Amino acid sequence: RCFQQFLLGMQNPHTFSKEILHFYFEASSGDMSGVSPEVKQTSKPVLLLWFWPENKRFHLQSCKKFFHIDDCILTDDKTLESKAQGVLVFHRAISEDLSNLPTSRTRFQRWIWFNTDSPTNTQRIPGLQGLFNLTMTHRKDADIQIRWHVTARKSMDKEFVLPTKERLLCWIVDDKRMNKKSGDSYTYFVTLSKHIKVDIYDRTSDDVKGKKYFSVISGCKFYLSFENSIHRDYITETFTGPLAAGTVPIALGPPRRNYENFAPGSSFIHVNDFSDAEALAQFLLRLDKDNEAYMRYFDWWKFYNLRQQFSEEKHEFVHAICQACRYLGLRKEYRYVPDLYKWFLE
Ligand SMILES: *[C@@H]1O[C@H](CO)[C@@H](O)[C@H](O)[C@H]1NC(C)=O
Repeated sequence: RCFQQFLLGMQNPHTFSKEILHFYFEASSGDMSGVSPEVKQTSKPVLLLWFWPENKRFHLQSCKKFFHIDDCILTDDKTLESKAQGVLVFHRAISEDLSNLPTSRTRFQRWIWFNTDSPTNTQRIPGLQGLFNLTMTHRKDADIQIRWHVTARKSMDKEFVLPTKERLLCWIVDDKRMNKKSGDSYTYFVTLSKHIKVDIYDRTSDDVKGKKYFSVISGCKFYLSFENSIHRDYITETFTGPLAAGTVPIALGPPRRNYENFAPGSSFIHVNDFSDAEALAQFLLRLDKDNEAYMRYFDWWKFYNLRQQFSEEKHEFVHAICQACRYLGLRKEYRYVPDLYKWFLE
């Protein structure tokens, strides 16, 4: 009866009760020789989401719904702490004295360090080195990368249609960042805006929230994809967003060749391609009048695909978390990160 209930629970995860889960662990962590093959096949690791990042809660079935990722059982039930094979820990939510981390840990459990921030904006909390088995960040050498990826197009069915363009150059930016009046991107922007009009939107305004985020971006010919700090591989949705929306990103961040690890070289403009901001402005104004040259920035659509990230705020982290779910389900090898900060911050 227990097996039947268990299998039922797998088919209909909404009814997945804790009793069934407990039973399942007893069965799977012990000797499997007497266990029926159906159960072995359906044994998926439990991934415990220890903190909801920025308290943005989504439905626990979202990985299956959005990405057909069904390699783990995602839960936020902390009473499963000692049973979970994976624990996903959002760095920014860890308290300085580590008192809000899980306390009972088993040998088989893998802790995943989840950090969406750049090294500049990452707080060095003492005592975290040596705790984690896997890393999930923007870095290319992380175990799990959180970036939305350009993928090869499977079929040539869809032709690229340029969204209607109403504005030349836009930037959605945090008012706070603007008010600081410092940083590479601010200085660059100030000089640039002397030579070309930039439409600025406040990131926190309702005009660019939710679905409007992409409709604003796709209405612009170019977009300032200026990262808030400059680090290898720190290329965020400020770049992938416009790329997916049918807008040409103007990258300010790591060097061009770093961007080319993640996106076709002909899909974007890099500020370092120009001697200064004025030269970039002149180039953009020329491109504005030369439609043929402008359209060449979209040639990559013939061969590649980039899915638009979710516009709903609560879904901001769902893609990353689902990658962790897939990893945990597919990769089993022993691993640990000897010194997190040496790897990430230095
Ligand atoms: C995970 O990392 C911890 C801490 O380094 C280590 O003790 C443990 O054996 C590792 N477990 C796995 C399954 O890799």
